[in-house]
Amino acid sequence: MIILKSKEEVEKIATASRIVAASLLALKDYIKPGMTTQLLDTFVEKEIIRKGGIPAFKGYRNYPATLCVSVNEVIVHGIPSDRVIQEGDIVGIDLGVIYEGFYGDAAITVPVGEISPEVARLLEVTEKSLYAGIEQGKVGGRLSDISHAVQSCVEPEGYSIVTDFVGHGIGRSLHEEPQIPNFGPKGKGPRLKEGMVFAIEPMVNMGGPEVSVMDDGWTAVTSDGSLSAHFEHTIAITQNGPKILSQV
Ligand code: MF3
Ligand code: CO
Repeated sequence: MIILKSKEEVEKIATASRIVAASLLALKDYIKPGMTTQLLDTFVEKEIIRKGGIPAFKGYRNYPATLCVSVNEVIVHGIPSDRVIQEGDIVGIDLGVIYEGFYGDAAITVPVGEISPEVARLLEVTEKSLYAGIEQGKVGGRLSDISHAVQSCVEPEGYSIVTDFVGHGIGRSLHEEPQIPNFGPKGKGPRLKEGMVFAIEPMVNMGGPEVSVMDDGWTAVTSDGSLSAHFEHTIAITQNGPKILSQV
């Protein structure tokens, strides 16, 4: 069952999501070569608490940190550690916040210093596919229209969609129904209604789509070692179209 949210509830998810967005932007500015991924976690945790939010990922299924930091070949769920960020890395930063009992969730992938045009294109296409998916968040449309739009944006560029992880409904829980794959035919699944709130999150690999999960039980890497990018927004379906909540 997809839980519909009232205007007041959407506003709380929006506040949580704005804290996420502002903290990700602050972190984007803060990241420099030579920093450990652990330092990023410490920085962002302080930011969200200062803004009145509570870390949403910490303790979720025993996840040990506030931030997921996914460097280069790490797709998602990289655990902050003593890994040192290098010039030329791409760093996925994924953050969830709770505000008055409601969740917000968003992610960006940021280049550190100079990256090649090829790698820049991976980031651009992945972000563009997120916006293509969001655009399909229309009352009366179908859930899989979102999925199909993401896939149609990515595959012609020669990249692979990760199918092992999907987007999700969000509200009083981090993960609610429905699951939102980043692939599939259009015109399937539930009709979209005002009050639905979704986290849409394409994960795109430069090489093949295969995923390996490391022994820590979390860190998901590309099996072929190729680079991977991830962008995510929390959005609300409204009569006036999709509304991105995770922006400042
Ligand atoms: N954005 C990711 C998701 O929705 C992050 C979850 S990390 C976890 O699944 F630790 F909370 F699981
Ligand atoms: Co998410």
